[in-house]
Amino acid sequence: MKHFKVKKSCEKNSAHYFIKHKNSVIAQAFLVGDALEDLWVHPDYRRKGLATELMSELMKDSSDIPINLLPVDEERIGIDIFGFYAKFGFVINETGSMDYEPQRCKI
Ligand SMILES: CC(C)(COP(=O)(O)OP(=O)(O)OC[C@H]1O[C@@H](n2cnc3c(N)ncnc32)[C@H](O)[C@@H]1OP(=O)(O)O)[C@@H](O)C(=O)NCCC(=O)NCCS
Repeated sequence: MKHFKVKKSCEKNSAHYFIKHKNSVIAQAFLVGDALEDLWVHPDYRRKGLATELMSELMKDSSDIPINLLPVDEERIGIDIFGFYAKFGFVINETGSMDYEPQRCKI
């Protein structure tokens, strides 16, 4: 598989993680404050690991800060998106969305 490089544009309270191909953004995610928003991969590039690459980079930068996922309608998305985020340490919260809480000790 072709390797796509994750790029970042960071401001004081927000970060934009993205992957470009032929000058177009084909995958992206935003961290605004502690909210993870709009993880998206262009339909032609799905199932190639791009969302995984974006999330891996984002979590590398954020492993010691809490992150809230904006409410997600798993039924509408139609894939096991909670399972996807769980791989990065997110757990379902009382509102039915997911959060990432840093751990002092990684088991
Ligand atoms: C959800 C989304 C970001 C996944 O992007 P992607 O680059 O295709 O994801 P990856 O290739 O990294 O896949 C990671 C894992 O997610 C799961 N997954 C992703 N797409 C899937 C599908 N269509 N069906 C079943 N499982 C799927 C699989 O477990 C996959 O791992 P695998 O390929 O090893 O089986 C993309 O489908 C998308 O942009 N959807 C529309 C927007 C959206 O719903 N965003 C999520 C908001 S919370």
